[in-house]
Amino acid sequence: MRITMIGTGYVGLVSGTCFSDFGHEVICVDKDATKIARLEAGIMPIYEPGLDALVESNVRAGRLSFTTDLAPAVAAADVVFIAVGTPSRRGDGHADLSYVFAATREIAAAISGPTVVVTKSTVPVGTGDEVERIIREVAPNARAWAVSNPEFLREGAAIEDFKRPDRIVVGTDDEIARAMMGEVYRPLSLSQAPLLFTGRRTSELIKYAANAFLATKIGFINEMADLCEMVGADVKDVSRGIGLDNRIGSKFLHAGPGYGGSCFPKDTLALLKTAEDFQSPVRIVEAVVQANDARKRAMGRKVIKAMGGDARGATITLLGLTFKPNTDDMRDAPSLAIVQALQDAGAHVRAYDPEGMDQARALLPDVEFAADPYAAAEGADALVIATEWDAFRALDLQRIAMLLARPLLVDLRNIYPAAEVERAGLAYHGVGRPQ
Ligand code: UGA
Repeated sequence: MRITMIGTGYVGLVSGTCFSDFGHEVICVDKDATKIARLEAGIMPIYEPGLDALVESNVRAGRLSFTTDLAPAVAAADVVFIAVGTPSRRGDGHADLSYVFAATREIAAAISGPTVVVTKSTVPVGTGDEVERIIREVAPNARAWAVSNPEFLREGAAIEDFKRPDRIVVGTDDEIARAMMGEVYRPLSLSQAPLLFTGRRTSELIKYAANAFLATKIGFINEMADLCEMVGADVKDVSRGIGLDNRIGSKFLHAGPGYGGSCFPKDTLALLKTAEDFQSPVRIVEAVVQANDARKRAMGRKVIKAMGGDARGATITLLGLTFKPNTDDMRDAPSLAIVQALQDAGAHVRAYDPEGMDQARALLPDVEFAADPYAAAEGADALVIATEWDAFRALDLQRIAMLLARPLLVDLRNIYPAAEVERAGLAYHGVGRPQ
């Protein structure tokens, strides 16, 4: 199949590269000439484990190329994917679809033969209808089909998720479009991933329902964690104890400082807006969004409480700034709210993150950045683990205890057993665990 991917952001670049790795001929298009030039030189715009090597081998094999020239790339394609951004619109939280519709117009004007136009960007229910309308308006005689095919990739594990998905969802009622999408994903039939064909609106909703449900699981276990602290129970055991029930499932039950990133916060908000527009309330999701917003700042207060209630003049070190490990993404990271809360309380904040410091510098101008976890700990009054990078899982705790001015570890990701930390001479505070 000849595939053209519009947008070389996170989703477009990973998906395009993986499709080419399956043997399809892929052209990735982006308006940003610098980005395309860098990609051609093998420089990735994002940090994603394994992506640079995969891009390089497929470019070398002649199956993957990059261009800023949309029209010829679309004219040559059987299937065109739209993978442009859908940020939250400022003011009202609706997904901003202007990039999706602008791309659709350009695609429609360039279509030559029969073409499936697939929306991969996360878009509200009904967007596919508008994509189809635009194509009919701009190219009334084109043989083209508008299809929905949401992505379920996790940052940091995106290639694995693409190659071994739990399922693939394709939304279209058209038989020809279904057959062509079947061809696109045929290489995955070996992995036995179910290819689920649904209506287009259903497919669009599945994406939001999936993310909102996962966010709800996290919100639920975080509230259980708070309750655990009050009643003297251990949330890690609660997660295990409920997760072993297959109906619940063990994943996404790690208590922590709240979810962040470019997906859950934005998608839950967009779902609330859709529900509001259709006057069909989603009260559970509403509560999850509110609780998560409040939680991030509350984690700052938790640190201050662990320090005895006063952080004025203290130096507090954060290990991990990105919203999760294996990414350099700082979007809606809980660390941003935590740092703010600590600074508001009069603390000086120091931080270290393996990949996120370049992005963090712009967002956190008053934070002091350190070269490694030990330099970050030196002379500090508390050490806070905010993101569970592997590099923080086997710290030399005795050395940390010596370096800190006050031996206190606040582990917001519960990566250490309390006893091990205490043996090293540090006071330990986790999330939802007996203190
Ligand atoms: C999420 C979904 O997991 C993907 O399936 C989806 O495709 C993607 O959004 C998207 O819509 O594009 P992602 O945002 O990359 O992926 O990251 P997750 O691994 O889902 O983590 C999201 C947040 O939840 C992180 O801040 C993480 O720390 C937090 N989390 C996750 C928890 O606090 N506890 C958990 O048990 C799991």
